[in-house]
Amino acid sequence: MTSKRQLLVSIALAVATLAFLGAVLWWEQAHPPATWSALPSGKPERGAALFKDKGCVRCHAIKGAGGTSAPELGSDRDSRRTPSQLVVSLWNHAPRMFERMRAEEITYPKLDEHEVADLFAYLYTARCIDETGDAVRGKRLFDLKGCDRCHTDQAKQSRDAPPPLDALRASASPIAWARAMWNHPSLPNEKEPPQLEGRDMNDIMAYARKGQSIGLDWLLVAADTDRGWKLYHEKACVGCHALKGEAGRVGPDLGPGRDLPPTIVQLAGSMWNHSLAMSRAMSAKGVKRPKLEDREMADLIAFLYSIRSAEPGGSATLGEVVFEGRGCSSCHGSNAQGTSTAPSLRGKNNRYSSISLGTVLWQHGPEMNKRVVEKGLKWPDLSEGDVGDLLAFLNSAPAGRS
Ligand code: HEC
Ligand code: HEC
Ligand code: HEC
Ligand code: HEC
Repeated sequence: MTSKRQLLVSIALAVATLAFLGAVLWWEQAHPPATWSALPSGKPERGAALFKDKGCVRCHAIKGAGGTSAPELGSDRDSRRTPSQLVVSLWNHAPRMFERMRAEEITYPKLDEHEVADLFAYLYTARCIDETGDAVRGKRLFDLKGCDRCHTDQAKQSRDAPPPLDALRASASPIAWARAMWNHPSLPNEKEPPQLEGRDMNDIMAYARKGQSIGLDWLLVAADTDRGWKLYHEKACVGCHALKGEAGRVGPDLGPGRDLPPTIVQLAGSMWNHSLAMSRAMSAKGVKRPKLEDREMADLIAFLYSIRSAEPGGSATLGEVVFEGRGCSSCHGSNAQGTSTAPSLRGKNNRYSSISLGTVLWQHGPEMNKRVVEKGLKWPDLSEGDVGDLLAFLNSAPAGRS
């Protein structure tokens, strides 16, 4: 008797779990998360045009194209990975940048919030692009990992033969390479693919490129995170990969709670490493491995990376300490209530974000800097951890006023 009851209980539990999963999926479909739209609201393609039109390109280069009198903005340095990191580096460098603009008599660029969002999206995209790898090490790895056994130097013998080494060159840019790794056929006899680590894949791709350096990947610049979000659902990724730590999925969580490889080519390496396990999980679930086009891969990757750059949360109380400690209060008042020299900043209907803080800098920075100099103060530098708290403070109403 007991065993029958146990069976009924476990069936009931299984049904409840399925219903719950179904509800979670439905909820995710119906409610694209709002905070994720902080960065995606900008369009990298428009940002690329603004970068030229607003004259940034006169001083800054991206991937080597542009001026050389200011830091290159397209290198994969850690310091500009998220909008808050970007706004901090912009904020801290602003006085010297303003000085350079004055010295070179460059018209100061006027930017509104949409334009800053576009520029940030573009700079962010430029940063995700990989540095060119080491082609000599890449050749060694190509042989060591067995790629050379199929991708030989000779031209194809038959129609089904793998493309020769030379032909791989056509796919040797970050997004196309990731697409190729996703679509890559399994090795014969379900052999586990030889694992690639760290920058191995960058070096292999550099070999396929014959060492030619990587420029900006326009597939990524044209990517659309909203389309990526849709594809994530349409291509069944969401059935196996949670985004918000829900249990019950067979693949690793791909949401913001977990680090992805830092660049696209390294993500391609991770797809190669996991391809057999992923194929097996797909056969077990009766899912056919979806083939992806370049553009689809670009949209998916843009989506996956953009959800890692949501606004940091923060505490208004800590933000008040930051506001005091960084010296903002010496002009704006200890409660940011405003003084005779600087405007009031706080209110519960404020919607400051990293993007609007960046906009403030372009719109009010030079005037602010002028006051800093007049008062004999030091420019208030920010550190990355400050941003979330500072935003929470500025967006909260001062005590006694609601
Ligand atoms: C007249 C030259 C000039 C122009 C025009 C210019 N910048 Fe700069 N920018 C600089 C200089 C110089 C620095 C570095 C200042 C320093 O050394 O602290 C800088 C720093 C930066 C930084 C921080 C760099 C880092 O290493 O993290 C960012 C981001 C930036 N600029 C973005 C822009 C954008 C966006 C535009 C166009 C709207 C622009 N700049 C226009 C000269 C310029
Ligand atoms: C067992 C044979 C085999 C091995 C080993 C192999 N490949 Fe492939 N690869 C193929 C075949 C077959 C295709 C063509 C698939 C198609 O056309 O759909 C391919 C396609 C590719 C492509 C896409 C080419 C294009 O232009 O679309 C790239 C890039 C690639 N392989 C890289 C690699 C790398 C890097 C390795 C080693 C880490 C490797 N392959 C190991 C058989 C192999
Ligand atoms: C049937 C289930 C299933 C589906 C559908 C699926 N995956 Fe996976 N995926 C897995 C499993 C399982 C792994 C882990 C394999 C392992 O442990 O080696 C994985 C691994 C990955 C990884 C490597 C993660 C890491 O740790 O770096 C990426 C990236 C990935 N999947 C992306 C996707 C994308 C994008 C889609 C949709 C186009 C997708 N997957 C669809 C099951 C799935
Ligand atoms: C030396 C005085 C001074 C200091 C220090 C200072 N500010 Fe300002 N700030 C100003 C002035 C003056 C303006 C208005 C500039 C204008 O009218 O263009 C301003 C404008 C602003 C604005 C835009 C207000 C609006 O109307 O949109 C914000 C936001 C802001 N500051 C934040 C800060 C933060 C955060 C700090 C500390 C990291 C800081 N300020 C430090 C003088 C200062």
